[in-house]
Amino acid sequence: MIEGGAPLTGEIATGGAKNSALPALAACLLTGEPVTLERIPRVRDIRTMEELLEYTGAKVSIGEGLVKVDASAIARPEAPYDVVKTMRASSLVLGPLVGRCGRARVSLPGGCAIGGRPINLHVAGLEKLGATIRQEHGYIEAQAPDGLKGAEVHFDRITVTGTEDLVMAAVLARGETVINNAAREPEVVDLCALLTKMGAKIAGAGTSTIRIEGVAKLSGVRHAIIPDRIEAGTFLIAGAITHGDLTVTGCEPEHLRALIAKLEQAGAAVEQPAKGALRVRVPRKLKSVDVTTEEHPGFATDLQAQFMALMTQAEGISIITETIFENRFMHAQELARMGANIRLDGRRALVAGPTRLSGAQVIASDLRASASLVLAGLAASGETSVDRVYHIDRGYEQIEAKLAGVGARIRRVSDGRRLTKAAEEAN
Ligand code: EPU
Repeated sequence: MIEGGAPLTGEIATGGAKNSALPALAACLLTGEPVTLERIPRVRDIRTMEELLEYTGAKVSIGEGLVKVDASAIARPEAPYDVVKTMRASSLVLGPLVGRCGRARVSLPGGCAIGGRPINLHVAGLEKLGATIRQEHGYIEAQAPDGLKGAEVHFDRITVTGTEDLVMAAVLARGETVINNAAREPEVVDLCALLTKMGAKIAGAGTSTIRIEGVAKLSGVRHAIIPDRIEAGTFLIAGAITHGDLTVTGCEPEHLRALIAKLEQAGAAVEQPAKGALRVRVPRKLKSVDVTTEEHPGFATDLQAQFMALMTQAEGISIITETIFENRFMHAQELARMGANIRLDGRRALVAGPTRLSGAQVIASDLRASASLVLAGLAASGETSVDRVYHIDRGYEQIEAKLAGVGARIRRVSDGRRLTKAAEEAN
């Protein structure tokens, strides 16, 4: 429940990146020695990945802000449907399991609210590395009894977890692997940094060509996950949409360049008061800007829904184009129920503003859509209730406590976990 209208002021802290922590946890399967990961956010998707590791036989111990994984014995190189259906990133274990064990059996993810989530590119890449892949009974079965062999792989389109999956498969392969048209996301770079510490030989992380020279064995290490740029970006937009004066701490401004540029074009002032901190204010009226989502370093699709909420408060027409996922405008209908003026035209949304938002009962459809509804609720007059809030718990750690700490009138009235079953059905 959100009572809108309060400007957010003060400092709000960023946690570790969910989308970096997920591949990092999967990477722990590549070594028999214990790996300690720091700054792992306590969000639902991470718990799901930990359950997946435990299912394979790895031991997972969770401490204050850190997770230790001991994958000395992998009894079952498998990811069952029950786990995969709640989190599509489960396919991230395919590469490491086949790389380490010579075989893997991973349930195929279904579609989800934001569009189909195929893993054909992960599969084609593994085949290039010599794996034999069969698809049966909803599972992908990969076999490479003599180990994987390095090869040149060209991704037809840029895929973040596909790049991560293939890097993890290649680090223990014989010889050199070259990945062309690789994803350049900071999360890919963080994974490569972790693997390099473990003893992998990787060049070109953060560029479109990644070269991996296979090694025989990786070791246990300690590694801190990068800050969550999407959480930080969501908070920056929260500061702007409430006309507050908010400082987001513990973030990496370099990872947020595309969002900062758009916020500034829209009339917000964004400054860096200290290392790892960004302060946002809105000294003048917000004006509309156009946004097209792209792979990194372009504007992140994971911030599109939140930016759309902001554009409902900007003067003029904003054209928001989604190029990564085919159905990532589910929030538009809900924002319209709060008074937004949004017209959808295929992959484009036309947002006319400014409109006065008024609190309403709305339903979250996916993780980032639910964040946009919370942002709209913060700017609306009266009370907004966001239903199916379990979506937000998949990727934001205690968002209501963090926002309340900077002046938001927000409280949780029911525990999303009791609704897990409904979440699985909706996911
Ligand atoms: N695609 C294929 N075949 C594949 C893989 C991808 O056609 O084998 C297509 C997808 O359907 C999509 C496009 O390629 O249209 C890009 O998808 P990508 O593979 O890059 O997405 P992902 O790796 O499944 C990650 C994030 C998403 C984020 C996207 C895009 C993780 C765990 N997830 O997903 O995060 O939106 O990259 O940046 O890293 C979120 O956190 O809310 C979230 C959805």
